[in-house]
Amino acid sequence: MKIEFQKDLSALNTFRMRVKAAAYAEYNSVDELRAILDNPDLPGPKYHIGGGSNLLFTGDFPGTILHSCLKGLILKRDESGITVQVGAGETWDEFCEWAAAEGLWGPENLSLIPGEVGAAAVQNIGAYGVEVKDIITGVEVLDTHDHTTGTIDVEECGYGYRESHFKGEWKGRFIVTSVTFRLTEDYAPRLDYGHVKESMKAAYGDETLTPRMVRDEIIRIRRTKLPDVKEIGSAGSFFKNPYVTQEQYEDIADIYPEVPHFPLPDGRVKIPAAWLIEKAGLKGYVKGNAAVYARQPLVIVNHTGKAAPWEIISLERKIIRTVRSRFGVTLSPEVEHI
Ligand code: EPU
Repeated sequence: MKIEFQKDLSALNTFRMRVKAAAYAEYNSVDELRAILDNPDLPGPKYHIGGGSNLLFTGDFPGTILHSCLKGLILKRDESGITVQVGAGETWDEFCEWAAAEGLWGPENLSLIPGEVGAAAVQNIGAYGVEVKDIITGVEVLDTHDHTTGTIDVEECGYGYRESHFKGEWKGRFIVTSVTFRLTEDYAPRLDYGHVKESMKAAYGDETLTPRMVRDEIIRIRRTKLPDVKEIGSAGSFFKNPYVTQEQYEDIADIYPEVPHFPLPDGRVKIPAAWLIEKAGLKGYVKGNAAVYARQPLVIVNHTGKAAPWEIISLERKIIRTVRSRFGVTLSPEVEHI
């Protein structure tokens, strides 16, 4: 267990906001977590982070930041298939690398997403046509109300696009201790998103694909579009792709017939936020130390490394305002504001 006071959080958030928390507590076991939750010296509120890659600290945090160091991977093979239970504090991409090395299909399309396994299950991370909920069977948690542990089946987690009960109605109640995934050795590439199929064909021709080959190509595609959080401060996509009504979509399509759009089963239409931001003229826009990333306008970057939270928020507001006045669509942030 590690407990620190007046903790500098700049290395613990990929946006690199230079903020402090009143306290910081890290645990290596569920019993240590219980002790932290019972420790009267640790001020509230308590907020649990993973890799700090999907959040924006809006200022110093007055309470205690919790962080999991629960590690480990338990692989089970039986007549119903292959499952693996992974500690919440494992790095997500190391799990993807492990699966590829074992020749197991499942997380390969989610390769290189920054962050940790527990946070992946909270946020329902997604990329290239796959959401993590598609491969989760259950989430093991500690209930902060009574400190008991248990498993929540995937169907009960309220998963949707970048949504779950963990970040919604159960917010703050459960701490994820591990996540169980279903993987398979049976040929299962998922290549239907965008140009993934064409890219795979260009890279490998008609070869039979392996999870490793898909992982490598997804990594290559991501690197061409998204900033590496090790080099430039960001939290990945800053906004969610908005779901608009059919009427709103038609209003936009009247002026821009080429607008990319994806009809949803409920009658609404998904429009890429990146397209709206680009058409609003903000791709590459720089405001002080914050900027709209020139290769993927869905991403806000701390391009000098010196941005203060208010600079990111001020750019966020400008993007929302401009897109709203241009298209009548209100973008909502994907990044959690703390
Ligand atoms: N587009 C533009 N201009 C651009 C870039 C994109 O108009 O400069 C339009 C294009 O029409 C393109 C469409 O946006 O076809 C979609 O672009 P992309 O495939 O890059 O995906 P995205 O919708 O912008 C989402 C996720 C990403 C994920 C990619 C790939 C969200 C909020 N973001 O972005 O996730 O990597 O799909 O699956 O859903 C993240 O959450 O941090 C993240 C990076």
